[in-house]
Amino acid sequence: MSIKKYYITTPIYYPSDYLHIGHCYCTIAADTMARYKRLSGYETFFLTGTDEHGEKISRKAAEVGKKPKEYVDHIVDETKKLWSSLQIDYTHYIRTTDDYHKRRVQKIFQLLYDKNHIYKGVYKGLYCVSDEAFFTDSQAKLKDNKYYCPDCEKELERREEDCYYLRISEYGDWLMNYYKEHPEFLEPKERVNEMVNNFLAPGLEDLAVTRKGVDWSIDVPFDSDHKIYVWIDALSNYITALGFPEDTEDLYKKFWPADVHFAGKEIIRFHGIIWPIMLKMLEIPLPKKVYGHGWILFGDGKKMSKSRGNVVDPNTLIEKYGVDSLRYFLMREINFGSDGNYSEEALLKRINSDLANDYGNLWHRITTMLEKYFDSTLPEEVESVYGERERELKKAVLTLDANVESSLDGFQFHEALIHIWDVVRITNKYVEDSAPWNLAKDESTRDHLATVIYLSFQAFYTVTSYLQIFFVETPKKVFDRMSLQPPTNLDCAHNWASLPAGIKIEKGEPLFKRFDIDEELGTDVAPLNIKDCKEKKEEINNHKTDIDITDFEKIEIITAKVVAAEKVENTDKLIKFVIDIGDKENRVVVSGIAAHYKPEDLIGRTVLYLANLKPRKLRGIKSQGMLMFAQDGTTLTSFSLDKEVPAGSIVK
Ligand code: ME8
Ligand code: MG
Repeated sequence: MSIKKYYITTPIYYPSDYLHIGHCYCTIAADTMARYKRLSGYETFFLTGTDEHGEKISRKAAEVGKKPKEYVDHIVDETKKLWSSLQIDYTHYIRTTDDYHKRRVQKIFQLLYDKNHIYKGVYKGLYCVSDEAFFTDSQAKLKDNKYYCPDCEKELERREEDCYYLRISEYGDWLMNYYKEHPEFLEPKERVNEMVNNFLAPGLEDLAVTRKGVDWSIDVPFDSDHKIYVWIDALSNYITALGFPEDTEDLYKKFWPADVHFAGKEIIRFHGIIWPIMLKMLEIPLPKKVYGHGWILFGDGKKMSKSRGNVVDPNTLIEKYGVDSLRYFLMREINFGSDGNYSEEALLKRINSDLANDYGNLWHRITTMLEKYFDSTLPEEVESVYGERERELKKAVLTLDANVESSLDGFQFHEALIHIWDVVRITNKYVEDSAPWNLAKDESTRDHLATVIYLSFQAFYTVTSYLQIFFVETPKKVFDRMSLQPPTNLDCAHNWASLPAGIKIEKGEPLFKRFDIDEELGTDVAPLNIKDCKEKKEEINNHKTDIDITDFEKIEIITAKVVAAEKVENTDKLIKFVIDIGDKENRVVVSGIAAHYKPEDLIGRTVLYLANLKPRKLRGIKSQGMLMFAQDGTTLTSFSLDKEVPAGSIVK
């Protein structure tokens, strides 16, 4: 029997800085795909990792006074923590600084050299330190006589030095032909056009693959003046992780060629041109597919990127909204092949409408009915009462598998979710149209009532089984409340009316919380996240940038006495305080601390108060200044004083 197997990869990310939701996006997509394949019975190898060599990393490390390895170790730790918070279930994490990888890259370089695909020449060109890419004059952006990177818009440097070249120029026609004969190789279609128009039709130039004068890279095995430049090092990860070229009998034999490499469209030039040519030179099979996904754009229509510094910190979002909400939003909001916008508002809207309302509310309704009419015990369905509505629901559930499969096999995550949500909506409508509250009035319609409830649970169960592809926490909760083991495959879609009658089902807390969008955005808008990221960046240094005493003198911190406090109506987090600040005046401050203190806890207390922070409106209330607390993780604590001081005392 042949085993079904699947090998999927993400790009290996640069650990030049903390990763942001752009990276999470691709990793979540790959994880989603891996979950889908595992649930479909495939033995799945899911590779991700970090691309740790190169000048940009050593510069970044030097900026904060660290050795490159020390610097990347820290970022890799944080990256692994992030993947664990997102419950990314990768099979292997490759670091290009791992010994096995370095050794195998040198062997690959030697193989290419021995086969005469690499030769020594002189490099002249424009170099982007930030993206570690060379550009020709025509590729670069020219402005005021200076050349800028077409990707990140930083200024390019002109460089000339002897170096080794990979003879890719001879492979242009072969590759164009390969695209024609294998239209599935590079997707979506636009990527093929981009490659052909921008690079292949104008003619490929040989590729510089080494650098001199950089330390933080792998040595050319036969010429240690030269270092292997990032792309041969980086791309090779997809095969060194499987053992190539040292051990080709085990993982490599089983999983190569890869089923798909996911990569953002800015690096398709490397995955769609250089990589297949390298593999052709090595005389090994090409990956079955390279899928070039789009970018997450941020507000101003620019790509969210570390070099631009407009990133959103995923940790903050996971903490605030939960991992399933973030995963859902990224997979639902953006079509995988195209660009899409990120905004916290869009995220909140999705949570409220799709998760809390459609899906969460369906659970709430059916468990409430079950509790009320059947003492929380699932009744038996009675097939003889089936009418048009039941047949429609059944059809919707039974076509879920074909719909979801065809969407996911084409990497259309958002479309798969639309299909799943169709069933959620149809089920909600089924409940509404069947009016169980009327059926419950009459003993003669008890069978029908039982059937409506049973079938609604059946639909919910199937939907939730499919959501195991996208969610990592909610399905476990649901199956737990139904006292059922999570299904390990997707067969449930074919098994209509398979739920065991008689099980107790527990309603539990709402599956998804609704958020007050104004309150969320008012207290914690996206730019705050950017600031968080910047602050984290400083953590490597362990302190913020030094300021002068004159900077400090601009800040007015005083003691204040809390006179009155009350919850702001219709909010979870906000408390309105009236504070006495001495002989000056009373002030109103709105503070998002209701999770930590009851309003009355602080009345009469002396607190630290930042008095000259610009006032802002929160829920229509003008809030002046800020109350100050010590933060330890997620808990807040107020300061206490050794002895009483009058309100308005200066803190310095
Ligand atoms: O390019 N939107 O690493 P990198 C969507 N080391 N995806 C995004 C994104 C955004 N705003 N920002 C990043 C490198 N990504 C190389 C790769 S592979 C052999 C070497 C995702 O840290 C997207 O998948 O710049 C993109 O291609 C990748 O992160 C680039 O990460
Ligand atoms: Mg990049």
